[in-house]
Amino acid sequence: MRKRTGDRDSKKQKTARDEAGVSSSAQPRPSSRLLWWFKRGLLVVCVIYVSVPFMMRQFPDIIKHLVFSHRVRVPFFVNLSQPADLYLNHTVNMYLKSEQGISLGVWHTVPESQWKEAQGKDLEWYQDSLGAGIPIIIYLHGNGGTRAASHRVGVIHVLSAIGYHVLALDYRGFGDSTGEPTEVGLTTDTLYLYQWVKARSGSSLVVLWGHSLGTGVATNTAVKLIEQGIVVDGVIIEGAYTNIRQGGAHHPFAWFYLKFPGFEYFFLDTMAENNVIFPNDENLKRMRSRLLILHAEDDHIVPIHMAQQLYEIAQSAQNSENQVKMIPFAGSLGYLHNGLYKDPHLPDIIREFVHTLAP
Ligand SMILES: *[C@@H]1O[C@H](CO)[C@@H](O)[C@H](O)[C@H]1NC(C)=O
Ligand SMILES: *[C@@H]1O[C@H](CO)[C@@H](O)[C@H](O)[C@H]1NC(C)=O
Repeated sequence: MRKRTGDRDSKKQKTARDEAGVSSSAQPRPSSRLLWWFKRGLLVVCVIYVSVPFMMRQFPDIIKHLVFSHRVRVPFFVNLSQPADLYLNHTVNMYLKSEQGISLGVWHTVPESQWKEAQGKDLEWYQDSLGAGIPIIIYLHGNGGTRAASHRVGVIHVLSAIGYHVLALDYRGFGDSTGEPTEVGLTTDTLYLYQWVKARSGSSLVVLWGHSLGTGVATNTAVKLIEQGIVVDGVIIEGAYTNIRQGGAHHPFAWFYLKFPGFEYFFLDTMAENNVIFPNDENLKRMRSRLLILHAEDDHIVPIHMAQQLYEIAQSAQNSENQVKMIPFAGSLGYLHNGLYKDPHLPDIIREFVHTLAP
């Protein structure tokens, strides 16, 4: 309301000044120069707006950068080799090679109760600790930023305070990991980490926790394992979309273009043609792991009706009340897309879920 009135007023003023300018002075007045810049700026914005969709078709790499946003290496001034700077003093930073030429930065955090014991310990001590029968969570983060982003570190703190191990990786192309991201590549990296953990975890439970884009990585990985006859002990998906096509159509970025002629062709088809699918909905039909779905009602990136849909798909696929659980978080709590880790009940919810998993 305020903005509208202001615009009208300034327009009136501008028009008045312009008229005066035309009739009385040869020198452009500052105000008319401002108007000139304003028009020029508007033109540039329009040109960019219209060219982006065409650029997408021409240079599909752009869509990859939008989906993965891996070059947005926030937070900028964190040394990923030093997780202790983020109060993760019971964490070791390591690099795993998931494929020829792909080095992945990974943090292994031990249960918080062991923080004193962990001081000064080497990689071997950390690896040996995985076999002690304590649940292990593999945390698969969403797009943009590194494993040091505050909401990711928040989840690691919650899980290690409950008493679990956490392994948090930056997929290829993210953080200090090498390579370029693709959907297949992210799944390969996660599969590798899963197998690396399983080779050391003995009888400990291993659970995948995906957030946002990472939910697709989690379910892709679980399906790859199903194909090998392996059922992951448990899967937690936080802020999950049905598939990237539908997720993309609801993403705030897409709002600018929803009315743009050919929106589906320019954006959604480009993703599909470049093998960016992340089909949570299809994956859940094939998965047999116990599933926990966490979603905030006020999630502004992925609307909660998508999680509801996933819940129904998983329920009917697994045909069992106990196998699939969904916990919505009230919108009044203000968690949005990233803030669930702040919930005081989250530790109990996770503990209860992990308790139900077969060892
Ligand atoms: C980050 O930390 C590592 C290990 O402590 C150190 O070797 C490296 O020089 C640091 N990098 C920067 C950019 O400070
Ligand atoms: C290490 O981390 C633990 C758990 O977060 C914390 O309680 C402790 O105070 C930290 N110790 C140091 C020396 O920073």
